[in-house]
Amino acid sequence: MTLTHLSPSARQPRACRGVQGNGPHTAGTQKSGHCLTHPGEQGRSCSLPRNQHHTLQGVGVCRCPISAYPQYEDAGTPQSLATTKCAHSDLKLPPYTNFSHTIDDHKAKRTSPMKPNDLPSTTPWTMARRAARMNPSVIREILKVAEKPGIISFAGGLPSSKTFPVAEFTAACAQVLGKDAQAALQYASSEGFAPLREMVAARLPWDVDPAQVLITTGSQQGLDLVAKILIDADSRVLVETPTYLGALQAFTPMEPEIVSVASDDEGVDVADLASKVGSGASKARFLYVLPNFQNPTGRTMTEARRAALVAKAAELGLPLVEDNPYGDLWFDTPPPAPLTARNPEGSIYLGSFSKVLAPGLRLGFVVAPKAMYPKLLQAKQAADLHSPGFNQRMITEVMQGGFLDRHIPTIRALYKSQRDAMLAALKKDMPADVTWNSPDGGMFLWARLPEGMNAQELLPLAVDKGVAFVPGAAFYNDHGDPRTMRLSFVTPDGDEIRKGVAALAAAIAEQRKV
Ligand SMILES: Cc1ncc(COP(=O)(O)O)c(C=O)c1O
Repeated sequence: MTLTHLSPSARQPRACRGVQGNGPHTAGTQKSGHCLTHPGEQGRSCSLPRNQHHTLQGVGVCRCPISAYPQYEDAGTPQSLATTKCAHSDLKLPPYTNFSHTIDDHKAKRTSPMKPNDLPSTTPWTMARRAARMNPSVIREILKVAEKPGIISFAGGLPSSKTFPVAEFTAACAQVLGKDAQAALQYASSEGFAPLREMVAARLPWDVDPAQVLITTGSQQGLDLVAKILIDADSRVLVETPTYLGALQAFTPMEPEIVSVASDDEGVDVADLASKVGSGASKARFLYVLPNFQNPTGRTMTEARRAALVAKAAELGLPLVEDNPYGDLWFDTPPPAPLTARNPEGSIYLGSFSKVLAPGLRLGFVVAPKAMYPKLLQAKQAADLHSPGFNQRMITEVMQGGFLDRHIPTIRALYKSQRDAMLAALKKDMPADVTWNSPDGGMFLWARLPEGMNAQELLPLAVDKGVAFVPGAAFYNDHGDPRTMRLSFVTPDGDEIRKGVAALAAAIAEQRKV
């Protein structure tokens, strides 16, 4: 079931008026009792304890007493609410995406079914079907909370700002404006700045013609362009389990049938891939795959699995879309060669400058087989004509003389020390039944709560204690594992990591008591 929330952020949360006998509460102060803001109908009070009944101060899991709201429709499907959970918990994207929904939203759904064009009847606008498929990014919503003062954030995939080469960019800015200002500030070619395309091609470990390189506005735009040229409504698209949420966001508006392929610590399960690829009109258009230091799990596909995957994909005639923003951020040994290097004609490769230089420049690239390139280029022209020429020149200037070869090792060293700090803190503070992996690079670690616990429900407790993370369920196309959590170790420093892990352990201990 997909519920449509066209603009939840536009809705203002109603402040809770208080706990019976205790006056108004804020997140963290209500210990138990009845919420008067969210009464059931016929004056029945919500009797569920805190964090189980509604969104508090923008953080929390909705557990409204929905038996009071017997029925509404989602995009035409009558949905019985005679269950113990708020219907929002059925959202593919977890309920904390809807920070600001209120009891009024539930009433609105009951009386006015959610439809793709769920706008006030006074507007003349009709929404496209694909707009109803768009959802706010869970992570961006959590980041709004995590950015509040005092919160230690393991939530964002934000590179450490300590790694941004500010002095080099300052010098490059002067250089670009000094020698090339007119061109840098003018419209430019959609393919990208030629010297930058050449540098990208030269850095890749297989034979790439710069004519195959398309500079994009972040690799996120690469995902959007790929979706536009390869996905029709109902096309099957295969993804890993779990996978990058931003890719699901880019693919979903094209109305695909997204199918998850089983994956383990070594990567995609090749036998399961073969069983899910389909045939004829329902044959999958591509497999989207992140072999290196995957977002969200931090796992890396082994050499054996890469070889098996590329061979099976070639045998099945299944194209691969390989996303590799983290590949340079290895800690001890480089990961095995990219999938695309093994079958360039059967793969589209996406890369990014966000994790090795600075995400604020919004630059990435796509390397495509020559036959695919013109369509990607046309999609790019429609999207934004070209990526900022000024930024492309700045990056080119910074990269002159092998800068990345000196700079990237410093990022690796920093992130490795922070991963080690997180591993040590987890070992020290976590109960024995919490598990986690030890990634060989990248920015994320994947942890799992004990049987019976739920990361979404843990999040508001953790935020109360001053730490945020992303519940892992957000990264599954379907059947998310509610016990999983993505923990980023790159944004906070070592001390904050230690405090944050201690706070997380305290939240887990508290959730066990509830
Ligand atoms: C797997 C993956 N792909 C793509 C992106 C988008 O990166 P950007 O658009 O900054 O290049 C991200 C960002 O975190 C990511 O984790």
